[in-house]
Amino acid sequence: MRITVVGTGAVGRTLGTALAALGHDVVIATRDPEATRGRPEWDGGLPPLVPMPGAADDAELVVNATAGTVSLDALRAVGDLAGKVVLDVSNPLDFSAGFPPTLAVKDTDSLAEQLQRGLPGARVVKALNTMTAGVMLEPGLVGNGDTTVFVAGDDEEAKGVVTGLLEAAGWRDVLDLGPLEAARGLEMWLPLWLRIMGALGTASFNLKIVR
Ligand SMILES: NC(=O)c1ccc[n+]([C@@H]2O[C@H](COP(=O)([O-])OP(=O)(O)OC[C@H]3O[C@@H](n4cnc5c(N)ncnc54)[C@H](OP(=O)(O)O)[C@@H]3O)[C@@H](O)[C@H]2O)c1
Repeated sequence: MRITVVGTGAVGRTLGTALAALGHDVVIATRDPEATRGRPEWDGGLPPLVPMPGAADDAELVVNATAGTVSLDALRAVGDLAGKVVLDVSNPLDFSAGFPPTLAVKDTDSLAEQLQRGLPGARVVKALNTMTAGVMLEPGLVGNGDTTVFVAGDDEEAKGVVTGLLEAAGWRDVLDLGPLEAARGLEMWLPLWLRIMGALGTASFNLKIVR
């Protein structure tokens, strides 16, 4: 699949590398490729960097791995996303008052729904925002590789594309929470996720839904 990962932080780099290793044709979009290439964390083994304008023109799938407070601007910058599957892994964390961050949107709305409204025709699917970057496409890193990943979205076919991608990465418990509105709960998990990380002293953990 032709995939544009928007975002060059830990998530963009980790997902870009993992998706390329799964055989996808991946580019990573950034505002200024030359400046990004000059960052210490940017190494030669990563997928090609491209400037944001037009970065999603050929993409079948677009991954939103940008800071939640700027995600809509960033996704608008990569082009017209109508008809494209948009895998949104972002969280609406607002660090403007320090740590711990607050949620920029919650309860009656979510970042994923804001993206869906702001990107007409895009097929937004929320997934993977509930865990640390390293676990997203390497579920074997925690537990017995049998923890849970959630998906939510209004477009069943798009959700199927994302589910297929997750299963190819080794996820065995993909739990479909229904429409994109379910992203509210997925994003509101973050305050508790941050507390658990503090208590455990590691980000390498995940939810496992035991039936
Ligand atoms: N870190 C994790 O383990 C983790 C886990 C789950 C979910 N998430 C979520 O995943 C997302 C990415 O997290 P991250 O830590 O990898 O990266 P991040 O630091 O939250 O975001 C970095 C990206 O945001 C872009 N950006 C910043 N300001 C921008 C602006 N004004 N316009 C356009 N783009 C802008 C940057 O673009 P440039 O490339 O041009 O600098 C960069 O690509 C976040 O929403 C985060 O909450 C993170």
